[in-house]
Amino acid sequence: MNIILLGPPGSGKGTQAKRLEEKFKIPQLSPGDMLRKAVAMKTPLGLKAKSYMDKGELVPDQIIVQMMKERLEEKDAQEGFILDGFPRNPQQAQALDKMLKESGREITAVVEIAVPLTEIVERLSLRRTCANCGAVYHLKNNPPSSAGVCGQCGTSLVQRDDDREEIIQKRHEVYESQTKPLSRHYAQKGLLVRLNGALPISTMTQELMVKLREKARTA
Ligand code: AP5
Repeated sequence: MNIILLGPPGSGKGTQAKRLEEKFKIPQLSPGDMLRKAVAMKTPLGLKAKSYMDKGELVPDQIIVQMMKERLEEKDAQEGFILDGFPRNPQQAQALDKMLKESGREITAVVEIAVPLTEIVERLSLRRTCANCGAVYHLKNNPPSSAGVCGQCGTSLVQRDDDREEIIQKRHEVYESQTKPLSRHYAQKGLLVRLNGALPISTMTQELMVKLREKARTA
């Protein structure tokens, strides 16, 4: 399974990617998580990326494409992967097509998750994440068992810097203008699968599993 998850900020890409990671035993490859780690470690890449992320803009393609190329070459990604947040514009999609072709791999399915903007703002304002292990919570829909603490590793939960309403709006605009057009690109290739992101988390996972298995059977 080589899966791409497309969807606006807060649509549940990360949440579903983690569940698929467990079910299929293939890694979630999230440029957002990788960049946040680099920001926390204050690496040169992190310092450069932060200025874009804080404004809700895309980090330049050159940086992202190289970072994802290296990640896709790692051993754990050879038997399958879940791309969560890459590609995000036509240039990145082209670069991905090229790198997969060079390594003799193909995309199995591209999942487009749709959620209305009002729901997105509510979700992201109440999202809390673990800066240590990357676990994702929601104060109402998916709360940690112990308030403010990650249930998986015991680290304090934080709110992401870009989960402020004006930045959420900007990220959504960037999605609509730059990323959404990719659904057409993948529909033309017969790879697109649509998922209703307004369903409860577990129902979404069940639907997703059915759709992915169907896609893999007919691939
Ligand atoms: P990134 O980290 O990828 O952020 P995003 O795409 O904006 O997506 P999110 O992580 O905000 O949301 P999600 O869809 O994963 O939702 P989640 O599962 O957490 O990117 C951040 C930044 O990095 C970008 O703005 C950009 O600057 C840079 N970047 C990243 N990739 C890049 C690229 N390729 N090129 C250039 N720049 C790049 O869920 C959200 C909340 O909702 C959680 O609280 C969760 O518990 C809850 N929830 C999830 N599902 C449900 C449900 N079904 N019902 C109710 N609540 C739910």
